[in-house]
Amino acid sequence: MSGSDKAKLSIGGKELELAIQKGSIGPAVMDISKFYADTGMFTYDPGFTSTASCDSKITYIDGNEGVLLYRGYPIEQLAEQGDFLETCYLLLYGELPTHAQKADFTHRITYHTMIHEQMSKFFTGFRRDAHPMAVMCGALGALSAFYHDSTDINDPHQRMVASLRMVAKTPTIAAMAYKYHIGQPFVFPRNELDYSANFLHMCFSVPCEDYKVNPVLARAMDRIFMLHADHEQNASTSTVRLAGSSGANPFACIAAGVACLWGPAHGGANEAALNMLSEIGSVENIPEYVARAKDKDDPFRLMGFGHRVYKNYDPRAKIMQKTCHEVLAELGIKDDPLLEVAMELERIALSDEYFIQKKLYPNIDFYSGITLKALGFPTTMFTVLFAVARTVGWIAQWKEMIEDPDQRIGRPRQLYSGAPRRDYVPMSKRK
Ligand code: SDX
Repeated sequence: MSGSDKAKLSIGGKELELAIQKGSIGPAVMDISKFYADTGMFTYDPGFTSTASCDSKITYIDGNEGVLLYRGYPIEQLAEQGDFLETCYLLLYGELPTHAQKADFTHRITYHTMIHEQMSKFFTGFRRDAHPMAVMCGALGALSAFYHDSTDINDPHQRMVASLRMVAKTPTIAAMAYKYHIGQPFVFPRNELDYSANFLHMCFSVPCEDYKVNPVLARAMDRIFMLHADHEQNASTSTVRLAGSSGANPFACIAAGVACLWGPAHGGANEAALNMLSEIGSVENIPEYVARAKDKDDPFRLMGFGHRVYKNYDPRAKIMQKTCHEVLAELGIKDDPLLEVAMELERIALSDEYFIQKKLYPNIDFYSGITLKALGFPTTMFTVLFAVARTVGWIAQWKEMIEDPDQRIGRPRQLYSGAPRRDYVPMSKRK
């Protein structure tokens, strides 16, 4: 933290001084860590809309300006000029890699992409129709049972090995979850392919014939991974940090992040957004759904719209929209009915007073669903792909927390509004 100032607070005739800490960019923070000791009161912020949980150097978001920086680099520049593995290196180590560092990192990831052969048997315990996210939660959590030699969080070498293993193996596990779901044999990783091409090969090739990865689609997949790699202290990242603060092993922490990401308000929104577009079905039906989204008594929400932080356009959505059109053009998909509904829904939402007033713009999930469907993935795999990408962000944030000398177990308090103390009533005395 840089620079500081003070805030004055008067409570019950007592004057409090709270230190204000300024970061390098973005909002300052007011240090309330002694607030309870000084006042006997807790602060109250359900949903953490005004709470900074940590001091981080990894990702910066400006919700009003639609800015997203990974270690200071704008997502637009990285998505245009970089690649996913380079982004992984940047998020994990803080700087863009040199040629030699990129080559070494790529080699180490490539040679960790296989998983313990016994894990293949682990998959057979699942039902074939299990949701792939359920398999991901189980399989990533199970990694600590297969790679126990990299679970000591106090050993920097083991932390590094666990990090590489998770970045390298998550795509393999995700592809296995997909193959298991559709009843096809697992496909081994290929060391001559780059990260995203390898992933598409593991998902879509079959042993009966050669499969050539389309480089335009591989580039689109790589960019989708980059857009989803990290995003400050979102719900799943906060889950990973909280799990890690107890000293839990890195595999268990990432599995906790996968579980949180699955929710439709978070990473599950891409699957929910595509299902919503399919349910709307045609442009003529949009007004009815827009009316439902505005109706306070109707739980329906426009999936893929709105964001806790972005109160302007999600910068990732713009890049996602461009990637979506590239993929559809490459595949010769011209009049995709879902895209037609999406484009009209976006046009209406961006001009409708309700959405403008509530600052509900399309988020990354709005276009990713259409793109992933065009790439050949079923909707049940959409959040799995999000988890593959976000694994590096979770690990980078977990690593930063573990290496923070001020780190301690996260343990929020509460406002209690339940029954005051009362004595037990024996059954004989109850009605
Ligand atoms: C991701 O945090 C991250 O960074 C997440 C993420 C990442 O990379 O990690 O960016 C990924 O999770 C993107 C968000 C994906 N979720 C969805 O698309 C689901 C639909 N969106 C909503 O559920 C909602 O917008 C949230 C959950 C994204 C944000 O919720 P907030 O910040 O708690 O806002 P809110 O629910 O309080 O909504 C504010 C108002 C409400 O109306 P009022 O109570 O003020 O009258 O806007 C309304 C809401 O009713 N509203 C919507 C809406 N989203 C919010 N109305 C209709 N449709 C919507 N989509």
